[in-house]
Amino acid sequence: MIDRPRRLRATPAMRRLVAETRLHPAELILPMFVREGTPEALPISSMPGVVQHSLDSMKRAIAEAAELGIGGVMLFGVPEHKDAVGSGATDPHGILNVATRAAVAEAGDALVVQTDLCLDEFTDHGHCGVVSTSSTGEVYVDNDASLLRYRDMALAQADAGSQLLGLSGMMDGQVAAVRSVLDENGHADTPILGYAAKYASAFYGPFREAVASSLTGDRKTYQMDPANRREGAREILLDVEEGADIVMVKPAMSYLDVLADAAASSPVPVWAYQVSGEYAMIEAAAANGWIDRRRAIEESVVSIRRAGADAVLTYFAVELARWLAGPTLPVPPRRGAV
Ligand code: PBG
Repeated sequence: MIDRPRRLRATPAMRRLVAETRLHPAELILPMFVREGTPEALPISSMPGVVQHSLDSMKRAIAEAAELGIGGVMLFGVPEHKDAVGSGATDPHGILNVATRAAVAEAGDALVVQTDLCLDEFTDHGHCGVVSTSSTGEVYVDNDASLLRYRDMALAQADAGSQLLGLSGMMDGQVAAVRSVLDENGHADTPILGYAAKYASAFYGPFREAVASSLTGDRKTYQMDPANRREGAREILLDVEEGADIVMVKPAMSYLDVLADAAASSPVPVWAYQVSGEYAMIEAAAANGWIDRRRAIEESVVSIRRAGADAVLTYFAVELARWLAGPTLPVPPRRGAV
């Protein structure tokens, strides 16, 4: 006798009924770039459809995201001035902290306002930490000096009202350092999202344009080697032990095995970030007519959820939410109707 799994694929209604993974706007997070000093939103050429927001356009976009039921927004700042230690990150009047206050006021209780806690947007060398020179003249990203800056940055963000701090710098001990400074300064209730398994990826390419990054070189001494799966599990474990409330795998699509491992073992929620290059590849192929854009977007995000992500950061969040609000099945002709 033939085993016939096709029975459950026969009609749109049956396929919908047996679908194992479903998307919902509440588990989507929209990353947003906010640029200092711009009166209006500016396009990002390598990310068609994504912009560097002005404060006003950010507020409108947050209102729209809230209306669609999106779970949260993740804010990135694009400052006018940068320096070696990323002073703009800890300045209460720095763009990210100003944007955070405005975003929280706009969002109310409708969604969770989250902030990127990393120095790279604010440093003139573009690294995610403080750069030092060793006794032998070697220039390196100084882990422990960077932690001191992260602690100050965490306080500035929590003071600005950020409702979830996204620690994306990949310094060792960053979750513990930030947790302790928050606890010591009246922010025991501010949660931490640890970008635990973050790989040194070519897929961050368009992001560098989005935040006008000054980086030359790469981040291979602090972000992870794409070859390493076991090490991803180690980083997840460390962030959980240090007190992360949520952990992240990033990028998403090329790291679904790491994500599945994390989902199987983590006692806290596991999120994944569909990064700028993943977005750009889909947009570029669709613009050429090489793939069906909507199907590719839905398939990519469903696959990330299926692999185990409880929520997904994606630049497609708003569009996906709009599709999800629409009809889920083609409306069939009624039997007997003419
Ligand atoms: C670091 C950070 C990066 C991204 C998010 N946070 C860049 C990097 O690590 O090089 C990339 C996100 C994307 O590519 O969409 N602040």
